[in-house]
Amino acid sequence: MITVKSIHEIREILISHRRAGRTFGFVPTMGALHEGHISLIRQASQQSDLVVGSIFVNPRQFNNSQDFDLYPKSEEQDIAMLEQSGCNVLFLPDVTEMYPKRVGLTIQMGSIDQVLEGSHRPGHFSGVALVVIKLLNIIQPDVLWLGQKDLQQVAVVSQIIQELSFPVRLEIGATVREADGLAMSSRNRRFSREDRQLAPALFQEMTKIKDLLHKGQTPLQNLLEQGKANLEVKGFKTEYLTAVHKDTFETVLNVKLIKADPYSYHLCVAAEINGIRLIDNISLIP
Ligand code: PAJ
Repeated sequence: MITVKSIHEIREILISHRRAGRTFGFVPTMGALHEGHISLIRQASQQSDLVVGSIFVNPRQFNNSQDFDLYPKSEEQDIAMLEQSGCNVLFLPDVTEMYPKRVGLTIQMGSIDQVLEGSHRPGHFSGVALVVIKLLNIIQPDVLWLGQKDLQQVAVVSQIIQELSFPVRLEIGATVREADGLAMSSRNRRFSREDRQLAPALFQEMTKIKDLLHKGQTPLQNLLEQGKANLEVKGFKTEYLTAVHKDTFETVLNVKLIKADPYSYHLCVAAEINGIRLIDNISLIP
């Protein structure tokens, strides 16, 4: 694997591969890598000739400066993991390479940015949009790989690809979980032992709601409220626990609608334990 820090240099390297007719899969990350990231690299390497990964902790997408300062870093370990999993080129720019001047451009996403992560993290998706557009312009991959773990980010990026006509195919990797159901996340490294034991409750509550819904217990609103109350009792501060359409992110409470097209609907949750914010989602496919 080669590691490249400058935009100019990665463009030069990728041009030569493109001329040789190679296809690229691209996996953008913010580092502190875990098996969720690595599963995307492995899937990308099965489907493309060349895998490009990036590590860039994008300051523009953090709406909370403490979250940015505390964001875990493990560069040496990340590089070793990428090397072992089939990544060929690592793009590792620093902030001044990506944002040499004060950035004036702001991307407005429209209605998708008004709900869930959009409304709880103002400016987050504008920052994600800006960096993803920039990375797509630099790398120009054939396939972009994102994880279902960040479902609303998938919807945002899919909107960008469509509206700006990027010639790239979006592929989604399934959420990789710990044995107890906790979705892998770079932020999990910040847990104390007690918090780590509590954390799988997010997945467990969502799974319970899904089972009850398919067993015919309704209204869904009551199941969601009960789930939220259960999390609060365990010590979570719950920001939302809701069912949405995976593309529009509109809330759905009509169980008939969900049962008619379960592939389109997900339960989504965001909650905090002792200042560490977690998000997760599951599909409503029975
Ligand atoms: P980051 O949180 O590092 O995640 C990088 C990619 O890994 C994202 O597509 C994310 O959805 C995926 N991922 C994270 N946890 C996962 C899990 N448990 N299973 C499967 N995939 C998982 O998401 C970002 O970085 C940034 O917003 C980025 C897209 C890089 C833009 O800065």
